[in-house]
Amino acid sequence: MPDDPISNDSTNPHFEQLLVASSTLSARRRRLLQLGLGSAALPFLGLPLRVAASAQPGMRFQPLAASSEDRVRVPEGYRVQMLYAWGDPVSDAPGFRGDAGNSAAEQAEQAGMHHDGMHFFPFVRHGQPSSTHGLLCVNHEYTDEGLLHPDGMADWSHAKTLKSQHAHGVSVIEVELAGSGRDLAWRVLRPSAYARRITARTPMRIDGPAAGAAAMRTRDDRRGNVVFGTLANCAMGVTPWGTYLSCEEHFNACFKGLDQPTAAQKRYGLRERGAGMRWHEHDRRFDVASEPNEANRFGWVVEIDPWNPASVPVKHTALGRFKHEGAMLTLAGDGRVVVYMGDDEAFEYLYKYVSRDRFDASRAGGSLLAIGTLHVARFGADGRGHWIALQHGQNGLTEANGFADQADILIRTRQAADLVGATKMDRPEWLAVHPGSGEVYCSLTNNRQRVDVDAANPRRGNVFGHIIRWREEGGDAAAGSFGWDIFVLGGDPQHADPEKRGNSRGDAFGSPDGLWFDRDGRLWIATDVSGSAMHRGDYARLGNNQLLVADVVSGEVRRFLTGPRGCEIAGPTATPDGRNLFINVQHPGELPGGRSDPTRPLAGSGWPASQFANVTGGRPRSATIVVRRDDGGMVGV
Ligand code: FEO
Ligand code: CA
Ligand code: CA
Repeated sequence: MPDDPISNDSTNPHFEQLLVASSTLSARRRRLLQLGLGSAALPFLGLPLRVAASAQPGMRFQPLAASSEDRVRVPEGYRVQMLYAWGDPVSDAPGFRGDAGNSAAEQAEQAGMHHDGMHFFPFVRHGQPSSTHGLLCVNHEYTDEGLLHPDGMADWSHAKTLKSQHAHGVSVIEVELAGSGRDLAWRVLRPSAYARRITARTPMRIDGPAAGAAAMRTRDDRRGNVVFGTLANCAMGVTPWGTYLSCEEHFNACFKGLDQPTAAQKRYGLRERGAGMRWHEHDRRFDVASEPNEANRFGWVVEIDPWNPASVPVKHTALGRFKHEGAMLTLAGDGRVVVYMGDDEAFEYLYKYVSRDRFDASRAGGSLLAIGTLHVARFGADGRGHWIALQHGQNGLTEANGFADQADILIRTRQAADLVGATKMDRPEWLAVHPGSGEVYCSLTNNRQRVDVDAANPRRGNVFGHIIRWREEGGDAAAGSFGWDIFVLGGDPQHADPEKRGNSRGDAFGSPDGLWFDRDGRLWIATDVSGSAMHRGDYARLGNNQLLVADVVSGEVRRFLTGPRGCEIAGPTATPDGRNLFINVQHPGELPGGRSDPTRPLAGSGWPASQFANVTGGRPRSATIVVRRDDGGMVGV
């Protein structure tokens, strides 16, 4: 691998700690460190954390005003570069065609659409995780068929179905910071032996209690333990053994349901008209009438080993089936794996999985995401909360109450959570665990349908959303109870309605979605105001979607970045040294309804070609960008 042009890792206390620790580790454990956990490894490995629970990391950048410009804006002293846009090859495939003329086969080797969650896995150089060379895993959440094909959905065909399926899934790309001075920039290494696209047609294994269940079997898979593909890949997670978790969210949108859906199908939104996708016309898997169980094989968390391009991804049924936003993994005091997960729909739930076994670096993942207990949250009005086990035979989850076995509970997780009386939340999106205190933060993006309020979802017609947080009993992530409060209510401080002003101490925002803690404990908040709400009504003054930074001790919130028109901001994450911030700009130019007119592809936005030279235009393109400080320092400080 090439030499590190601007290595600064030796000044990084995280890595000094890692090195000291790794000198006493087994070869296997050293290998795990090399697998690229970076700063995220510290809590997992039980090493001293840099961040004190009460530390105030500080923010000195000059916050931005709200924006309606069709470009990405960053504070003075920062620069932004394009890295990886829809249609860019992962390795040595053909490039993007601005008329959407790439074939389905080409799309299978190019960036998918609608970049969402992502993670940087560093290579190791001189025993230290690199901040200049790594693998980037990027989720592709959904497709805009109006942009994906030259003539949109006209003359819908097998080839269009294939191209659409290939635009979902995950990219694994090899990236490097190269050059010097003003030319210092990130680039995708092509060709790369690691580069890979995982799509809605990639074979993967199913494990956990629901693998092999009758409700998981299809004509293509009579054993119920192999499935083709992952789709609707929203947010993500990372494991301490160096793998990537990609989460299937609005999977129902890809299916045509029955005229008269079953109760379980209704509960998951599998309806006759679906979301207007037409995959079912050329792939019977997506026609519930033809293959009734195929939809049971989506809505899971998928584990991918980015370091082995030949590895088979695994869907982990022990983590439940719902519209998974993300899967935030941490370790309990005794080493068991804990995964926090949200189900992003109005009045859905927050979940926590606890493994049976303890993390052991010598055995990597093993059973940890296959055998364990799924719980769902109940928030009390007294600031206390409880985790209720979704385990067969417990809490009323019995055959008499309609649940045949554990597989049944996991395939119909939403209904199991209904039965045990979990708290219906205002659309749980991302979760983040503070690197010092272990407090968990969750964005509840909005819920206009909220009529009956409760302490954890306190606003009727919650248009701006809020961020809730909790601290597990005894500081142990596996605890059965927790104390909680609301960190911040989104809103517009100038709003005529006091209920809608929120309580941000600083810049205004609404519809929080992506959350991420940097290594100093700053909370990064990405917003996803829908195209139908942006720039009008309640949101008239809040501008395009944006990325903010919060000091969770003082509560101060500052606007760090504003996106181009019609986009949402997603996936913030950084290199281990905190000097390179990767951000996804999802669906620039998206119009209300989410489908573009192929005769007017630039109607909503011309980004990124409008901002970056040498980027093929013709259509707006979701893309990964990188933000750095001009002086090369840590971002957000
Ligand atoms: Fe895929 Fe809930 O955002
Ligand atoms: Ca989201
Ligand atoms: Ca969202």
